Amino acid sequence: MNDKHNIYILGIESSCDDTSAAVIRDGYLLSNVTSSQAVHEAYGGVVPELASRAHQQNIVPVVDQALKQAGIDASQLSAIAFTRGPGLMGSLLVGVSFAKGLAASLGIPMIDVNHLHGHVLAHFIRTEDGEETVPEYPFLCLLVSGGNSQIVLVKSYKDMEIIGQTIDDAAGEAIDKCSKVMGLGYPGGPIIDRLARKGNPDAYTFAKPQIKGYDYSFSGLKTSFLYSLRDWLKDDPDFIAHHQEDLAASLEKTIVDILMKKLYKASKDLKIKQIAVAGGVSANTGLREAFQQYAKRYGWKIFIPKFSYTTDNAAMIAINGYFKYLEKDFCPMEAPAYSRVEV
Ligand code: KG4
Repeated sequence: MNDKHNIYILGIESSCDDTSAAVIRDGYLLSNVTSSQAVHEAYGGVVPELASRAHQQNIVPVVDQALKQAGIDASQLSAIAFTRGPGLMGSLLVGVSFAKGLAASLGIPMIDVNHLHGHVLAHFIRTEDGEETVPEYPFLCLLVSGGNSQIVLVKSYKDMEIIGQTIDDAAGEAIDKCSKVMGLGYPGGPIIDRLARKGNPDAYTFAKPQIKGYDYSFSGLKTSFLYSLRDWLKDDPDFIAHHQEDLAASLEKTIVDILMKKLYKASKDLKIKQIAVAGGVSANTGLREAFQQYAKRYGWKIFIPKFSYTTDNAAMIAINGYFKYLEKDFCPMEAPAYSRVEV
């Protein structure tokens, strides 16, 4: 049994369309290799069967590269952490089966990781030459991705409570759908972000939901965006082409305002000023700027992830695995993947 030194954790992530492997030693990241699947772009969304097949092609070279970059041999690994869910079942099965096979062949423990916990704990990834400051418990994390919009009260690495969440679409999903209506590419988030930088955020107003508590709703905004566009297109068939920057900026502002308002309310009610953001939408420039503004205005200590940790990655799975390893929180070989779960 290792003491607390030279603990090497291999993390494996394959919940959606990114195949990723990472190695962490004693809580410090040595490698993080991700292969993204371009095959889905032509379909305007992730095609589960294609994702699963691409994971099968990618998993061996990605893990191999992660070990090489870390400068270690598989025999040095202490445990293998893998994303057990939630995600696409066909995608998850590739990573889960691979992790099980490798762990069994090496005779080392397996550690199952909840993908959503992974996103939240990405803030604890340290690098040897970095100067990362990590949050202290309890903190609030706004988890915003293509599939989730949640405010999570993080009490410890394994004790997380969702205090608010979307009752319909996720923020990223709303951005992607509005971008699709505008005839832009997939995923829409980065495209809207780029256009928004050149537009006027106050050019248009769209419906904002009136939902109680800390919950979110984005489906009304999506409908409001669609109906407004339909009316404007009647007068000017080239309306989108003429105004796409202002449309993107106004859409982004509306979504950021909705997200921040509830987060502020939660922070005020719970008297928590350590606030993190995670998930794919945390790459958004407008949201990052809003975090900075709130930090100045309300004295928040904010945690914004590096771009490489906003999208799906195995570094966040490996750090989770490391914390669980320290408590010998292992999972049995027969543990199945799960497609749905809350934080
Ligand atoms: O966490 P994530 O990578 O995976 C899933 O949930 O599947 O999040 C993907 C979401 C997509 O909706 C994408 O459009 C959005 O994150 N996204 C962004 C930006 N980059 C990615 N949304 C706004 N601005 C961005 N820069």
